[in-house]
Amino acid sequence: VPVPLTDRFGRVHTDLRVSLTDRCNLRCTYCMPAEGLNWLPRAEVLTDDEIVRLVRIAVRRLGITSVRLTGGEPLLRRGLPELVGRLAALGPELSLTTNGIGLARTAVALREAGLRRVNVSLDTLRRDRYQELTRRDRIDDVFAGLAAARAAGLEPVKVNAVPVRGVNEDEVVDLVEFCAAHGYRMRFIESMPLDAQGAWDRSAMITADELLAVLGARWELVPLEPAPAPGGGRPPAEEFRIAGTSTVIGVIASVTRPFCGTCDRVRLTADGQLRNCLFATEESDLRALLRSGADDDAIETAWRRTIDRKGPGHEIGSAGFTRPERPMSAIGG
Ligand code: GTP
Ligand code: 5AD
Ligand code: SF4
Repeated sequence: VPVPLTDRFGRVHTDLRVSLTDRCNLRCTYCMPAEGLNWLPRAEVLTDDEIVRLVRIAVRRLGITSVRLTGGEPLLRRGLPELVGRLAALGPELSLTTNGIGLARTAVALREAGLRRVNVSLDTLRRDRYQELTRRDRIDDVFAGLAAARAAGLEPVKVNAVPVRGVNEDEVVDLVEFCAAHGYRMRFIESMPLDAQGAWDRSAMITADELLAVLGARWELVPLEPAPAPGGGRPPAEEFRIAGTSTVIGVIASVTRPFCGTCDRVRLTADGQLRNCLFATEESDLRALLRSGADDDAIETAWRRTIDRKGPGHEIGSAGFTRPERPMSAIGG
């Protein structure tokens, strides 16, 4: 029977986010420079066997009940359906966050392997703007990926957008209508200071209040009660139903309404570093432990020690805030 991963503040960690690669096939301007980043050497990336072993420990010993696969772009990982099958067999609820490119080809195989849900990033519906924003002309692949995910039963399909002032803020209503028409769940994310260039600009961030004012002027929004996770944690998204419809939208207000107090998340980077927070400034090197022949007890101990050191939350906007060394794409959202 697993012993819960509880921290000093009583938060129980049941949600593990596993980055499968730091590489990406897009170059979103708010995420990384046009030339990409210095990708991890392949030898430093955890193998499938290593990931499966860590997730087994997380599920069997630490009480992790939900595992989200992230990147970079996780669909770039070779042999993904096989890895998904091995992870699903360990029993957690398995989900994936992707930019959607390649999803049309793999949705059915992933569903059959045991993946339950996908969240797909899409910041604009306009081809020219998509190309400007991501520096690649791939919007049709994303539309096809979304449709394939829904057809494969990877539901609810959620769409993530980061609204940025002067870039795509004029599309928030269109994005909601697009999702309503296709049966996807639209979510808007406040941009966080986690881009590789260090160019984050608070004044370009569309706040949850601003966003809800725009959407609230168009529709009546009814707040939904958050469904608490097994350990009592709360998901980052605040959700609303458009009155009189089945359309649900979400807002992830990481900056203006931090949800650190109910955080139940722990993260594993593609190179096997355990992080107790998106904004953690220290990591625990599980890969070194794995590769030095450590037994499961030693890995469990290192994992619990990492959670013991988790702080109360990020301080974006205050003088005490330090950016983590890794950008978002190398942490895994
Ligand atoms: P579900 O609620 O399970 O559908 O997924 P999710 O919203 O947690 O995952 P997703 O990968 O779609 O993340 C959406 C956004 O939420 C991304 O921008 C993440 O960086 C952000 N996010 C996820 N977890 C955290 C967190 O622990 N802290 C903060 N500040 N942001 C987070
Ligand atoms: N702040 C907020 N969200 C971000 N994403 C990427 N970079 C940032 C950032 N700096 C989003 C992506 C994707 C999700 C996993 O995280 O658009 O939808
Ligand atoms: Fe790739 Fe996601 Fe970064 Fe865009 S935001 S470049 S899709 S990792």
